[in-house]
Amino acid sequence: MNYDKKTVLVTGGAGFIGKHTVKSLVDNGFDVIVADRKEQPSDLNCKYYQVDVASDEFENIFKENLVDNIIHLAALPSVADSIAMPLVDCHDNYQATVNVCTTAKKYGVKKIVFSSTAAVYANPQYLPVDEKHPTSYLSPYAITKNASENFIKYCGIDYIIFRYANVYGVGQDAFGEAGVVAKFFDLMTQNKPVQIHGNGKQYRDFIYVSDVAKSNVLALQTDVSNEIINVSTNKKTSINDLFEVLKEELNYTIEPIYTESRAGDIEKSILNNGKLISMFDFTPSIDIRTGIKTMIENYKQQGAYA
Ligand SMILES: NC(=O)c1ccc[n+]([C@@H]2O[C@H](COP(=O)([O-])OP(=O)(O)OC[C@H]3O[C@@H](n4cnc5c(N)ncnc54)[C@H](O)[C@@H]3O)[C@@H](O)[C@H]2O)c1
Repeated sequence: MNYDKKTVLVTGGAGFIGKHTVKSLVDNGFDVIVADRKEQPSDLNCKYYQVDVASDEFENIFKENLVDNIIHLAALPSVADSIAMPLVDCHDNYQATVNVCTTAKKYGVKKIVFSSTAAVYANPQYLPVDEKHPTSYLSPYAITKNASENFIKYCGIDYIIFRYANVYGVGQDAFGEAGVVAKFFDLMTQNKPVQIHGNGKQYRDFIYVSDVAKSNVLALQTDVSNEIINVSTNKKTSINDLFEVLKEELNYTIEPIYTESRAGDIEKSILNNGKLISMFDFTPSIDIRTGIKTMIENYKQQGAYA
């Protein structure tokens, strides 16, 4: 089935990955509707519903529009928040997904693209982690993402489940827990000290947000469906390396402060992206230094972290 050039509902479209995804969809000729709890951001020019996607009002979107496909990004994307507020996590991650799927089924939606996470692999048994690796959990966030994946598979609509590595880039909230790059960037551009949890040798697979947005669009431009696919670079960057790149690019001179490790944090994560490359003929190509340089360019233009 060709899912291209159809109306796409993007849940969480006012968020960090959402805004980049909406822009890529519009650039590729899709008609886009956004559903998000936030007020409509001034830089998001598309049909917009301010709504909790776990609520009954969510269905109004389908009564008023023909929705062909859904990119489901709305979530509480924070491990720390999920530990502090597991019921909110359950609402925004699992209940929201169940509501999106059951409503989508009722109105004949063709495909759901879901934003899952490397957190479902917990502390990996081998690296780089491929999609066959068993799932587990270190946090409520991983539990509700895993349950959401299963509900999507259960509900009987064509799907692509993407498991994103650590996403970073322009527009990420520096105050949320999800973005270590955004947090460091914000502090370092203000010449404030940075805290590194643990010894900084823990490493991640950092993927630039426009590569994630491109994957979301490709999921609707191909007939690949009913697959779980890592969205990642297959490259490791330690938190110490990340700090060094930012330090060099920003001419920052303050030494980091090392503190206790945090509960729920994964120690080492790199995701194998072979399936993404072979199924979508797409290799995420923006390395960490290039991504940070893009953030610095944007920072200079905006005159502030944005
Ligand atoms: N940022 C990352 O590194 C990363 C990594 C893996 C997976 N993900 C997943 O990608 C998706 C997008 O993440 P992000 O970084 O853009 O987060 P974000 O917080 O910037 O965006 C999420 C958006 O969802 C909205 N939202 C949350 N709950 C809602 C609800 N019940 N009803 C309506 N709107 C709701 C928020 O208002 C927000 O605009 C999430 O599902 C997240 O779990 C992100």
